[in-house]
Amino acid sequence: MFFDFAQIDPKEQYKLLVSTITPRPIAWVVSQSGEGVLNAAPFSFFNALSGDPPVIGIGMGSHQPDRPKDSRVNIEKTGQFVVNLVAEENARAMNVTAIEFDYGVNELKEASLTTIPSIHVKPPRIAESPVAFECELIQVVSLGSASGLVLGRVLAMHIRDDAVIDASKHYVDTPALKLIGRMHGAGWYAKTSDLFKMDRIPVQDWLREHHH
Ligand SMILES: Cc1cc2nc3c(=O)[nH]c(=O)nc-3n(C[C@H](O)[C@H](O)[C@H](O)COP(=O)(O)O)c2cc1C
Repeated sequence: MFFDFAQIDPKEQYKLLVSTITPRPIAWVVSQSGEGVLNAAPFSFFNALSGDPPVIGIGMGSHQPDRPKDSRVNIEKTGQFVVNLVAEENARAMNVTAIEFDYGVNELKEASLTTIPSIHVKPPRIAESPVAFECELIQVVSLGSASGLVLGRVLAMHIRDDAVIDASKHYVDTPALKLIGRMHGAGWYAKTSDLFKMDRIPVQDWLREHHH
């Protein structure tokens, strides 16, 4: 089937994108208003965009045409945020923080989550999450009137101790984190436990076997 986006409403375009680009990692973002009111919300238009410099990107929309998501408002104002990752055991609490509360409601409290102060930025991290990135805003790239791409530089990260195999070598036990990804539709998620291994092929090996 061919879908020409020139003929499709934005809401339907969104459906086609999010039901195919899967699984998507989830950025569980903690930010603060100018007055210091905490805010938390999940975003699955999220990924690592660069290793050097360490940059992550998050696509943040609007609640209504003239009301960008609270997270985006806070980040544009303060220039700081923390991205927590979501483990299986965090799924329910993450879903509570996605409730479309009014501006100024602390979703962390609603979800009975605990926070731990960050080292380099004002917003704290979520204690229950196994990985957290302390981020500083690089820039918000405007994507039309409704959306903005938040680009953040990672200043530091926290990983739950039991998931670090060798701190000096920066080896992480990724399966132990049990992170989840967002799938299609309104409520489907994936566990990251169905794995297979495939090594990279050195160019010499390929040439020796295919072009002698
Ligand atoms: C798993 C999940 C992923 C989400 N991803 C996004 C996203 O990528 N972009 C977005 O604008 N909203 C996304 N949402 C919706 C926001 O979390 C929701 O609108 C939230 O209320 C925004 O909170 P805020 O206004 O406090 O920032 C997602 C919701 C869930 C449950």
